[in-house]
Amino acid sequence: MPRSVATPPGPKGRFLSGNLREFQENPLAFLERIARTYGDVVSLRLGPVKIWALNHPDLIEQVLVDQNRKFTKHFALRRAKPTLGEGLLTSEGDFWRRQRKLAQPAFHKDRIASYASIMVDYTERMLATWNSGETRDIQHEMMKTTLQIVAKCLFDADVEGDANDVSEAMETITHSFNDRVRSVVRTPIWLPTRSNVRYLKAKRRIDEVVLRIVAERRKSTENHGDLLSMLIQARDDDNGGMTDRQLRDEAVTLFLAGHETTANTLAWAWLLLSRHPDAEAKLHEELDAVLGDRPPTIEDLPKLKYTENVVTETLRYYPTVWLLGREAIEPCELGGYRLPRGHTVWMSQWVVHRDPRFFAEPDRFFPDRWADDLAKKSPRYAYFPFGGGPRICIGDSFAKMEAVLMLATIARKFRLRLVPGATVAMLPSITLRADGGIPMTIYQHEYANDSLVS
Ligand code: HEM
Repeated sequence: MPRSVATPPGPKGRFLSGNLREFQENPLAFLERIARTYGDVVSLRLGPVKIWALNHPDLIEQVLVDQNRKFTKHFALRRAKPTLGEGLLTSEGDFWRRQRKLAQPAFHKDRIASYASIMVDYTERMLATWNSGETRDIQHEMMKTTLQIVAKCLFDADVEGDANDVSEAMETITHSFNDRVRSVVRTPIWLPTRSNVRYLKAKRRIDEVVLRIVAERRKSTENHGDLLSMLIQARDDDNGGMTDRQLRDEAVTLFLAGHETTANTLAWAWLLLSRHPDAEAKLHEELDAVLGDRPPTIEDLPKLKYTENVVTETLRYYPTVWLLGREAIEPCELGGYRLPRGHTVWMSQWVVHRDPRFFAEPDRFFPDRWADDLAKKSPRYAYFPFGGGPRICIGDSFAKMEAVLMLATIARKFRLRLVPGATVAMLPSITLRADGGIPMTIYQHEYANDSLVS
């Protein structure tokens, strides 16, 4: 039999649930284990859903780039539609292409440069509320600030007053995503279960804030020159402008996609730096040399190489988007096998970023591995924290700049240490975040050395 009609190898599953139980117990360990055991194409099943896990960069490139037109987003993201509607993350086809074209200029290099001062400014506002010696949940702190930044940069909106509320609502929604994505039997959203009631309340709260921003802007005669203005002014040949509903979908998508990912990355970076004082010392050396006593600006970015490498390595070590999924809308060849129509493929950043074929000592946090152009020497999709191909993250440059500027602004003033005895568990939901937050003690920069706890 030619290899192309065979099924790829994979773990044996239960009669009805397939590999669901092992996956639910520990998705990261499960995906890593099957990759190391069965190779670059692994076949598995979650209940009725048949999946191939692709564990080689070249196969990932096939799906995201070369054969991208044969795939749509997979079932998990479709389950996000009640929340995100037809926003950039979830829409498909011509509608998605139009929306992407409309939004793209807001993420252009020159445009993004103008966001740098907002990023530093909002970070400094957060720092003004911090006191040396106190303990804070760093994940929550980062969430609040990145939410304010995305709202200000893209919608010229101040959500400071709503930030706590909105971050909590976003959190509820993420938990609900998590349950929906993982469960095989889903309770309909209209059933008044506890979790549905919480979810609907959270969704209402976010809609309220977003629709308020849209309504205020429609009334305003001023041109704010931001993404929201561009979207409101956009007209297409036969449909006219965007409805409030469409604007709401794009705004909620950008709020959600544009704040939690960067916040998680920063939170993981603080945890890693607190556990690696050598890396932290090197970071401070660079910041002292480049910035001295002043906050960073856009002009400093090319000189903040080590800071950038800390962000790059954090996204390798704890990729906040840890799994991408696609569904085949037509059959195709992958790795010598024939993928049937309707099959799902998974590509996990967690698995590939920890593959010793592409990263020496993959379990070591080592920002300097990126110093010598590692990215250019490795296969293109050995490292793909932002995905790739036409659906690549629209906010990748925004996020990288934001993470470097926030890291530099904070590290210039404070060192952060994990509270002694605290354990940090990973929660791989739609994003990879810390379960229950990351409690850290904040020390004013000059006193931090006295209190090293790792
Ligand atoms: C460290 C931070 C971030 C990471 C790791 C990240 C990662 C990703 C990934 C992997 C995708 C592709 C999903 C797929 O192919 O299925 C994506 C898509 C997207 N991201 Fe990000 N992202 C980050 C920050 C941001 C920011 C700051 C924004 C906006 C301000 C943003 C907005 C979006 C949007 C709208 C999409 C959908 C794009 C499309 O399909 O056209 N992301 N992101």
